Amino acid sequence: MERPPAGMPVSCLPQARPLYLVADDRGVAPLLAAKFATVGIATQVVSVAPADATHLVVLSGLNRCPTPQDVEREIFGLFSQLRNCAAALRAGGGLFVTVQDTGGAFAAHHCDGQQAWLGGLAAFAKTAGREWPQLAVKAIDVAFTDPETVAASLFEELMGGGPEREVGLGENRTTPSPIAVAAPLGRSPFNDGDVLVVSGGARGVAAECVLALAACQPLRLGLLGRSVLVEESRELARLADETALRQHFIASASGKATPMEINRQVSRIMASREVRSTLANLTALGCEARYKTVDVTQTAALEAALDSLRQDWGAIHGVIHAAGVLRDKAIADMTPDQFAIVFRTKVDGLRALLRVTQPDTLKLLCCFSSIAARVGNPGQLNYNVANTTLNAVCLAEKVRRPDCVVKSIGWGAWDGGMVTPALKRHFEAQGVDLIGRQTGARAFVAEVFAGADSAVEVLLTGALGRGFASLAGHIIHRENHGEKDV
Ligand SMILES: NC(=O)c1ccc[n+]([C@@H]2O[C@H](COP(=O)([O-])OP(=O)(O)OC[C@H]3O[C@@H](n4cnc5c(N)ncnc54)[C@H](OP(=O)(O)O)[C@@H]3O)[C@@H](O)[C@H]2O)c1
Repeated sequence: MERPPAGMPVSCLPQARPLYLVADDRGVAPLLAAKFATVGIATQVVSVAPADATHLVVLSGLNRCPTPQDVEREIFGLFSQLRNCAAALRAGGGLFVTVQDTGGAFAAHHCDGQQAWLGGLAAFAKTAGREWPQLAVKAIDVAFTDPETVAASLFEELMGGGPEREVGLGENRTTPSPIAVAAPLGRSPFNDGDVLVVSGGARGVAAECVLALAACQPLRLGLLGRSVLVEESRELARLADETALRQHFIASASGKATPMEINRQVSRIMASREVRSTLANLTALGCEARYKTVDVTQTAALEAALDSLRQDWGAIHGVIHAAGVLRDKAIADMTPDQFAIVFRTKVDGLRALLRVTQPDTLKLLCCFSSIAARVGNPGQLNYNVANTTLNAVCLAEKVRRPDCVVKSIGWGAWDGGMVTPALKRHFEAQGVDLIGRQTGARAFVAEVFAGADSAVEVLLTGALGRGFASLAGHIIHRENHGEKDV
C-alpha cells in the first residue's frame, strides 16, 4: 500500500485473516469487496459472520426497513451476531464497524421516519469499543444515494478516515455533537388544563420532573406504570418503611416464603405508596392526576388507557416517555431476554405512544434518554442501543412536528430513581457528579420551556448542575394567578 491511511490504522485491516462484510440488500457489499481487492485486502461477503471473525464491517444496517419487524430483525440480528463473535473480538487487534442509513447525520437531517428506528445500531460499535478497548470500532451513517457512491465513500472512510468512532457521511463528513448547555429561559408550551401523558411518571426521577412542571401551572396528568395500586390493611399502613414491612412479612410467613417472595411483597407496597404520594402531591399543586396501570409496550392496553383519559379530559397535548429498566451485563454475558426487556421498554414503548397519540396534536414530545448512549457505557449495550434509538427517533420526529417541543434528554446519573444507594456509592467513588433531584427537575422544566426551536438531543449531567442551580431562579412559577420565581 503506497499511502498509509490517515485515520483508521491500517493494522486494523487484516493481512492474514479475511475481512468479513456482512451483506446488505442494496448491493453495497460486493462493490466494497471489489474496492478492498484493489489494495490487496481479502474479504468475504457473508450474511452472518462466523464466530471466529475478528474483523467485520456490518453493512446490513443499510437495508430498507419499512416495518417495525424489519427494524427488529436488524437490531436483534446484530445483537446475536456481536455476541456470537464476542470471544474473537474481545481478544483484540480486530475491527468492528457498523454501517447504517439514517440520513448521513445520525437522523439529525433528512432521515426517513422508519429508518430512524435503526438509529440504535451505532451504539453497538461504541459499546463494543468501550468493553473491548483493543478493538478498533466505528459507527458510520450514510445518506444512501446509490450503491457505487456509498461503497466509494465507505472505502474512503475505512482506509483514510479520522479516528472518530461515529462518522456521518452525508452532504459533509460530520461527527454528532449534542448540546450540553442549560436551556435558556423560555415559556411553557401548555395552556392551563392541558393533558400530558407520562410513562414512568408516577415514580423515580420522572415523578420529580412532573412535579416541577406541575408547580408551574395546573395541568392534567395521566401517569403510566406497571405497578398495581395495592389496598393496604390498617396494620400494613402503620408500617412506615421497607425494614418494618420486611419484618412484618417475615414474621407472618413463618418461614414459608422465600426471601425473593418477601422482597416482591415489600417492593409492591413501596411502589404503590410512591405512586399514591406522587398523585397526592400533584393534586396539592392544583393538578388533576390519574394513574393507569399499564405496560407502555402493550399498544392495545395503552390505547385503552389513553382513550379513558381522553373521554374525561379530551385531546392529549404532551407525551413524556420516561419508562425504563436496567439489566446491565457485559456483551458476552447478556442474554437475549436481558437485551429485549431494556430495548423494548424504551423503543417499543415510544413506538406505542406515538401510535396511540396519532390523533393528537402534541406540543411536547420528550424522551428520557441517557448520557450512556452517547458514550457507549460498558455493560449497558441494551440500554445504549435503546437510548440511541430514542435520540434518533426524536430527531426524525422533530422534522415532522416543527411546532412541537421535541426533546431527547441524555441524563447523567441522578441522585435517585434507578441509581440505587449501591450505585450511588459507585458513582461517588468514581468522582461522578450526581444530578440533585430538585436541580434535575428544574433543568427538565427549562428544557420543556425552551421553545420549539431549541435543540432536540441535549445532555443534562451532574457537572451542569451548578449551572442549573443558578438557572432555576429564572424559571417562571405561576401560582394563584400571579407569577413568582422559584
Ligand atoms: N436515574 C438516573 O440516573 C437516570 C439517568 C439517565 C437516564 N434515566 C432515565 O430516566 C428514566 C426514569 O428513570 P428512573 O431513574 O426514575 O428509574 P426508576 O426509578 O426505575 O423508574 C422507572 C419508571 O419506569 C416505569 N416503567 C418501567 N417499565 C415500564 C413499562 N414497561 N411500562 C410502563 N412503565 C414502566 C416504572 O414504573 P413501574 O415499575 O411501576 O412499571 C418507573 O415509574 C428512565 O428512562 C431512565 O433510563 C435515569
